[in-house]
Amino acid sequence: MKSIITGISGQDGFFLSKLLFEKNYEIIGIVRRNSSMTTGTIEKLPHEIKEKIRIEYGDLTDAGFFARLLEREKPDELYHLAAQSFVGYSFQNPASTYDVNISGTLNVVNAVKEYSPNTKLYFAATSEMFGQPESTPQNEETSFKPRSPYAVSKLAGFWTMKTYREAYGMFISNGILFNHESEVRGPEFVTRKISMAVSRIKNGKQLVLELGNLNARKDWGYAKDYVYGMWQMLNNGTGDDYVLGTGELHTVREFVEIAFQEVGIKIHWEGENENEIGLSDDGKILVKVNKAFFRPLESDNYLADASKANNKLKWKSKTSFKELIKLMVKSDLQQTIEK
Ligand code: NAP
Ligand code: GDD
Repeated sequence: MKSIITGISGQDGFFLSKLLFEKNYEIIGIVRRNSSMTTGTIEKLPHEIKEKIRIEYGDLTDAGFFARLLEREKPDELYHLAAQSFVGYSFQNPASTYDVNISGTLNVVNAVKEYSPNTKLYFAATSEMFGQPESTPQNEETSFKPRSPYAVSKLAGFWTMKTYREAYGMFISNGILFNHESEVRGPEFVTRKISMAVSRIKNGKQLVLELGNLNARKDWGYAKDYVYGMWQMLNNGTGDDYVLGTGELHTVREFVEIAFQEVGIKIHWEGENENEIGLSDDGKILVKVNKAFFRPLESDNYLADASKANNKLKWKSKTSFKELIKLMVKSDLQQTIEK
């Protein structure tokens, strides 16, 4: 089986490469060139997997690149993971977010339609599309109310995929995935920002962790569990839309508390709103709120109802919230010591 992964150098690309390698797939990874010629999470993969990945350099915004690629390779499966994926950045740079996430996605699906219509296509949609949901928990029937340029761009991609599936009979699955994290999560996302800071503070390499909204609540799972769901979505009957999530909500505050507990530090909260601080037993300020990390709008009250994926794919989120934090902190502690 031949696969193409866009966004292979990101978090999900890392776990999906591992999975497809285990399943003996041929893997072609799309990487955008940068001046240092680094390849993101690919560099963290075991040697034997790295060696098997064929890298093709290209950018989502280049329609010709995808047309030539699909005409030449005609893969069995294409996982379209690449995106400007940071919600906060999308408020500052909506135009480039739309270029990459909307026009870029159109380039991918058009190339599949024109040059390789039998390719099964996975699109990385998101729970962010629910924005301010009218009902909780959310499933495939819940209406969308996006609350960021990122969410708007993903909704455009989602509807494009649905339209092409119905209009042209293509095999396309939209994964409406809730937050999933890991030891290779990008350092700007809140979970990894916390696990890295906790490890550095424990080892005396950082003084304070500055965060935005401590009361933001998310449904957080482990990325490894979720990429298995992506593969299942392309290997089960027909293309469809599926919600994947844990069905549990936790606050950023809880994540901070548990992460510090992992290194033997208990956090005590004092103050309110932007003046709130987190202190250690011996009175050191370890956590501060910084308004710069707040967003103009917050999506809240997400909670996944993944019963369709449970029933049709037998998919389940396997890693608990605590286990997730434990493995992230453990990995960052190891990396902090090695540096
Ligand atoms: P990520 O770590 O941010 O990875 C994004 C990938 O897209 C990176 O490989 C990045 O390349 C690539 N990319 C960005 N712009 C590109 C461009 N113009 N041309 C080519 N490649 C480009 O994201 P992730 O967490 O793995 O998520 C994968 C997908 O799932 C994304 O579409 C995200 O929006 C979606 N999603 C994620 C979650 C989650 O919780 N993780 C939940 C729902 C949906 P560089 O390495 O060069 O930056
Ligand atoms: N990044 C960040 N940094 N977020 C913070 C901070 C901070 O210092 N402080 C509080 N938060 C809050 C954010 O306001 C948000 O409510 C929550 O922490 C999670 O933020 P992120 O980790 O940046 O992720 P996200 O939920 O905005 O987006 C991720 O999940 C989406 C699925 O729901 C990304 O992976 C998206 O690509 C994905 O679609």
